Formats: sequence, C-alpha cells, structure tokens
Amino acid sequence: MDLLDRIKDKQALVGIIGLGYVGLPLVLRFCEVGFRVLGFDTDAGKVERLNRGESYIRHISSSRLADLLRPQEGKGQFAATHDMGRLGEPDVLIICVPTPLSAMREPDLRFVANTTRQIAACLRPGQLVSLESTTYPGTTAELVLPILSVKYTVGKDFYLVFSPEREDPGNPEYQVSSIPKVVGGVTPACLEHGVAFYAQAIDRVIAVSSTQAAEMSKLLENIYRAVNIALVNELKMLCLRMGMDIFEVIEAAKTKPFGFQAFYPGPGLGGHCIPIDPFYLTWKAREYDFSTRFIELAGDINTSMPHFVVQRVTKALSDHHKALNGARILVLGIAYKKDVDDPRESPALKIMDLLKQEGAEVSYNDPYILRCAGMRHYPHFDLISTPLDERALRETDLVLLVTDHSAYDYAWIASQAPLIVDTRNAFKGIAGKHIYPA
Ligand SMILES: NC(=O)c1ccc[n+]([C@@H]2O[C@H](COP(=O)([O-])OP(=O)(O)OC[C@H]3O[C@@H](n4cnc5c(N)ncnc54)[C@H](O)[C@@H]3O)[C@@H](O)[C@H]2O)c1
Repeated sequence: MDLLDRIKDKQALVGIIGLGYVGLPLVLRFCEVGFRVLGFDTDAGKVERLNRGESYIRHISSSRLADLLRPQEGKGQFAATHDMGRLGEPDVLIICVPTPLSAMREPDLRFVANTTRQIAACLRPGQLVSLESTTYPGTTAELVLPILSVKYTVGKDFYLVFSPEREDPGNPEYQVSSIPKVVGGVTPACLEHGVAFYAQAIDRVIAVSSTQAAEMSKLLENIYRAVNIALVNELKMLCLRMGMDIFEVIEAAKTKPFGFQAFYPGPGLGGHCIPIDPFYLTWKAREYDFSTRFIELAGDINTSMPHFVVQRVTKALSDHHKALNGARILVLGIAYKKDVDDPRESPALKIMDLLKQEGAEVSYNDPYILRCAGMRHYPHFDLISTPLDERALRETDLVLLVTDHSAYDYAWIASQAPLIVDTRNAFKGIAGKHIYPA
C-alpha cells in the first residue's frame, strides 16, 4: 500500500516530535480520528509521565490522554518515546520542536536542525515530513531539505511540507480540528501528500504554492498581532497622559461592524510566539538588505511596556508617600496570558526583575504556576507562589495585577489591598481611588 492509501485508510503511523503545547494537541486529534501516534520527545521525564497518562499541561486533560494509551474502538492508540532511533517507524513525521531566539535575538534553529539530522539518520522511502515549528521563510527548503536529501529524492522517495501551527492554548472556542491549516510543499507531490494527510484530521486545509509562502503566512499572522498590540500600547500611554480610558475607547471603536479589529494593551508581550517570531523575519530580511521597520518599532514599544508598568508602580507609591525602594509588592499572575500555566517570555518576569533592581521586595501569586524558578532569562529567580489570603493582601504595600486569571475575585482583592496597579483593566467597574491603571 502506498503512502496516500495508508493515509486515507488511517493505516499510517503518525510520529509527532516535540510533545509540548503544540505537539500534544496534535497527538490527541490524530488519535481521535483513528491514527496510531508515536510521540517523540528528548525530555525523558515528560515521556514517562505521558506514558502513565499524565498530562503536564493544564488545559490538556489527563483522562483524555490516559484513554489513548489503551486500544479503543474507532480511535488510535498513543505511546511516547525518547528513542530517536525509532524515527524510521512512522509513515508521517510532524516536527513541533521549539524555535527560540538566541541571546543576540537571532533565530536559534538548533532544535529543528538536530531533529532533522535525527530523521535523516532513519529516513526511509515513503515517509512524509512536516515542519510545524514557526520559522523564517526558507527554513524548510534551505535547512531541512538538504539534510534530508543526502540519500533520497524529495517528491519521489520522501515528501516534505511546511504547515504552520495555529494553536491558541486555553482558547475553548477553537479546536485543532476547526482551525484551518495552511500547507506548502517542496514539490507538487509533497503538497498532495501533505494536504491528504491533514485533511484526515482538520476541517479545512489551505494549499499554498510553496513552503516559503506557508512559512511567511504564519509570520504575517504573528507580526499583525505584534504591530496592533504595539499600537494600542502606545495609545494607552497617551490616553493615560490625557486622562482618558483606552479600554472605553477600544470598546467604542469596536462597535464599527467593518474594518476594525480590537486589540488590547497590556504589560508587554509574552508567550512563545508574538515576542519572538517577528524577529525571525527581521533576521532573514537582512539577507535581502531590507529593514523591517514596522516590526522594529512594534518591538521597541512592546519591550518598553514593562518599564512603563514600573513607572506607574513608582507613581502610585509616591502618591501615597512611599518609595519603590523597600516597598512590598505582590504581583498577581505571572503566566504570559490569562488562564494558562505557561510563564515563557511572560512580561511579569521582566517586571519582577526591574522591581527587584529598584530595591522592592517582590512576591507573587499565580494559581497555575506554583514555583517560579529555572527561567531562561532569569536564572536567579527562585520564588514560590504566595497564598492569596487577606493577610497577604493587607501586608503588602501594592498589588500589581499582571495576568488577569479568571480565578481571581477582583472585588474581594480590591476590598483588601491598600493600593493596586492594574495592567489589564481587570478591576473594571470596581470603584476606588487606590486602583491605578497601567
Ligand atoms: N505554544 C504555542 O501556542 C504555539 C503556537 C503556534 C506555534 N508554536 C510553535 O511551535 C513550536 C513548538 O512550540 P511549543 O510551544 O509546543 O514548545 P514546547 O516547548 O511546549 O514543546 C516543545 C517540545 O519539544 C521537545 N524537544 C526539544 N528538542 C527536541 C528534539 N530535538 N527532539 C524531540 N523533542 C524535542 C521539548 O522537550 C518540548 O517538550 C515552536 O516553533 C513555536 O513557535 C507554538
């Protein structure tokens, strides 16, 4: 049976490399529609937990995962491994490994390159490889393809596509199946195999003419968000100076039924995508003597937001005859966005670092992140989430709301805390001169 038939009959074994925020939802979806899935991850601890049916991501339920470990009618079975020597077993390999920035803010493609080399060592005729990690246009054709093409011919012996992931962790409105999937192939045969594969699990698959177009489409999506968030962040700072409420302004503008999409200001960008991905394009554009000015400007504004928050904290304290140096500050929410347990690139970390540098005594509470240690840019952090009780609120000089988790009782917090700086409009509708927007 050739690969297309194996895909159509759901006989194909699917290998998912990188069992993180992107890889695990894909595991669930491909099993749900009847494929057997073998997950690969270099983190032996994660593999062990997953093979016990334990999810380590809050919004992915352990019971759903545990169900997939045993055979069930109509559903595929899942197993995880850290043995990369087994990469020759799956018919389809999906790469979902991290694509961070280096310390010099340049693309760090070590994870993608290592994984590709490991695939190349086991590659056999009839395999389809799909890169899903966000990256600059050209990665699939210029980095992945040469490594895989040593022994075999693309489009004939094996197939290679790029299909960007559009996961929005914790968003209950969209599932993997209902988020349309863009696919670009290195050759027409690659595209045909890629589209046939994703169509088994995703309601709508959009074929584009090349892997570069697919890579660029993902970057456009994230740059669009970064630029629009920078715009409202700048307008927020102006509105505060003019004595206006940016959130009220956005709500009013949002009533326009066409040509406007609401974005909201905040304490700075966070997460694995928006603060990082645009700079992948900036880097690539240099090769073409081109400067991506919108991205740079948006980056300048967005990265200045944590400093702005610290200024607002200083002002709130000073209005109450207190100095930042020595002030006890309780930060609420350190995840990069509400209701998730992911602190990667969270602006809360930068803000806490700046506050500490100014001599503040910083503690935090986050119902989903009980320990804050081992952070990439803040290796000196080793904090435990403070229980959020009356005493913690009363004994602090200022409460700084960074991430507006739904679990917080804002009216109660406002009634207990002496002074509040709110970066998310979370205390909307709660009156009090002690609440400062930031
Ligand atoms: N998190 C999101 O919301 C999101 C959304 C869209 C796209 N993306 C992109 O998807 C990619 C993965 O992001 P993520 O959030 O899932 O990352 P993650 O850190 O949650 O997961 C990556 C996993 O890969 C594993 N890993 C690292 N190197 C490996 C290797 N050589 N072989 C096998 N496993 C390896 C890690 O142990 C980890 O479990 C990134 O390119 C990211 O930009 C993420």
